[in-house]
Amino acid sequence: MFKYLFARSEDIPEGSAAVYFGFSAITWFVIGTGLGAFNASKLAFPDFVTGLEFVSFGHMRQVHVHAVIFGWISMAFAMAMMYMTPALGNTKLWSEKLGIWNAFLWNVGLSLGLTLLWSGMTSGREYSDSPGSSICTLPPS
Ligand code: HEM
Repeated sequence: MFKYLFARSEDIPEGSAAVYFGFSAITWFVIGTGLGAFNASKLAFPDFVTGLEFVSFGHMRQVHVHAVIFGWISMAFAMAMMYMTPALGNTKLWSEKLGIWNAFLWNVGLSLGLTLLWSGMTSGREYSDSPGSSICTLPPS
């Protein structure tokens, strides 16, 4: 997975960035909806996993929401654009390597941000509660 990060640009096959984004999106889908199912279980069965603050509904809900929005859906969109734009324009990406680095830093930033959210570092305002650390790595997209 990491072998193209430091490879020469001419050695990186076309479509690699789209593949990186695609696999990342699928991974975040599994994690995000898994957390959603966990949260839904807490709503359905209020006694499900109690007594641990870091898995309380208040901590877990926003981790689910951010994982599916910034991990699953956003990265799936990025994958679609990195595949469709060159295909429709009959060209190739300006830099596959930049796309791969983008996917890598996106994953690192999001993982860090979700960890901080999970630990309770949040403004408490929905959709603007993610700590700056995760947002910092998103602009390269
Ligand atoms: C494509 C996958 C999904 C997306 C994009 C998504 C997105 C969201 C969003 C945006 C919210 C916040 C809603 C709000 O602000 O009112 C939310 C909340 C929630 N989601 Fe998901 N979700 C997904 C999958 C799932 C799955 C599979 C489950 C459970 C099996 C689930 C369970 C929940 C629960 C329990 C909440 C909290 C509801 C509440 O606070 O009342 N989600 N989800």
